[in-house]
Amino acid sequence: MPSNESSTPQHVTVSIPDKGLSAEVVGELLQRHMAADIPPSHDLGRFTTTKFDETAINIMVAGSLRNQPCIEEYPSLADFREKCVSMLANLWNAPSGFFGAATTGSSEAVLLGGLAMKRQWQLQHPCHLNSRPNVIIGANAHICVTKVANYFDVEARIVPVSEKSGYSFDLEGLEDRLDENTIGVFLTLGSTYTGHYDPIQQVSRVLDEYEHQTGNNIPIHVDAASGGFIAPFTPSNTNFIWDFRLPRVQSINVSGHKFGMAPLAVGWIIWREKSHIPQCLLLESSYLRGTQSNFSLSFSRSGAPIAGQYYNFLRLGLAGYRERTHSLLDRACHLSIRLEETGYFSCLSDAHRRQIPSVCRDLCREGGQITAPVLPVVVFRLTDHVRRLYPKMQLSDVSDAMHCFRFSIPNYTLRGWGYHGEDIEVMRLVLRDEMTMEMMGEVITSITQAVEKLLDQA
Ligand SMILES: Cc1ncc(COP(=O)(O)O)c(C=O)c1O
Repeated sequence: MPSNESSTPQHVTVSIPDKGLSAEVVGELLQRHMAADIPPSHDLGRFTTTKFDETAINIMVAGSLRNQPCIEEYPSLADFREKCVSMLANLWNAPSGFFGAATTGSSEAVLLGGLAMKRQWQLQHPCHLNSRPNVIIGANAHICVTKVANYFDVEARIVPVSEKSGYSFDLEGLEDRLDENTIGVFLTLGSTYTGHYDPIQQVSRVLDEYEHQTGNNIPIHVDAASGGFIAPFTPSNTNFIWDFRLPRVQSINVSGHKFGMAPLAVGWIIWREKSHIPQCLLLESSYLRGTQSNFSLSFSRSGAPIAGQYYNFLRLGLAGYRERTHSLLDRACHLSIRLEETGYFSCLSDAHRRQIPSVCRDLCREGGQITAPVLPVVVFRLTDHVRRLYPKMQLSDVSDAMHCFRFSIPNYTLRGWGYHGEDIEVMRLVLRDEMTMEMMGEVITSITQAVEKLLDQA
């Protein structure tokens, strides 16, 4: 799995002051402290939303005063949540019996999806009580998928991902890992590390064939943390089927606070049918006014992101999300090309390529734009030439230098993902609304200067 050096904050020992200070003094103190941070809009590797219009901010403040579980007091919030669930189920072509939940993000959603799969498998296989269940995950899965295995005592069977498999789940590694104790396959749309989509339709076909041969029916969960709001709005998507149109897709999650444009912290999970969640997991609570049936890992939570999500759905509509997705993909294409034109970098991500050599990745032209079924991210490394001439040059130094320009661009290592099993050092840029052409120019100028300075010192 991709890795990076950990940087643990220093432990500080302070106590709550004996006497309070005025709001002005404290406000100024905190603002001054935060002003030293990288401005969130310059945090270029992050997926989460950093920009809201004035009305959205007011709606979110009103939402933050409402606690989600208090459905009797705040029926508006419960209504927004149900409508968001229904809108997403529609967007992903769910049949009418769907069931959905709001979570604090994709991590919680993935944990719920995994827990439901495990319990479902246990109930369907009472004679396997002494067997350890297993789950199939790609080496490109986010850490929250690994948590499903770790926290719920399920064996993780990891399918390799590498340059050879187009940086996505390697179909060839699937069949050998399946058996009667496999609770499900987790696939990613798209990869946190490179932006590629897993071959969901192809995996589904392999599982159909496996069921035909063995009788074992293995479901798919799609971790669409980012892609759930990108794939439905990508023009080339007509041939790329990844959602509930595939009968084997049992559940899908998305982060509302990424390309859904909601504020932190909200995620969503939709199951094809409510029956996929064993009844024993739907706990009823009635100590607040009203009884509710609940499947979640926490209780109290702010209504702000739910209100923010519903606001965005109404404010943008399908046309708004579509337009924005095209624009982000277009800018990702442009930025990739400009980075490669510096002569120092080559991109692993495919936002700028017309032909992507695996899965269903024929790019198409629409309205003069090239659009690929990938996330609007740019993941790049030093070119072979630069690495050969300057073997000591590290992307962590480039990342540090960019920090001095007050831009954050993370770097990390794709362990063993190279064509011959070698590590690949990369940096990642995620396209968000704030990345205007002007900012892109600044980033290119700064990173070019940073590399040239480092090469002079090398
Ligand atoms: C593919 C994938 N899954 C899950 C997550 C976790 O999402 P969240 O931060 O919403 O919990 C991420 C975060 O980047 C992700 O990229």
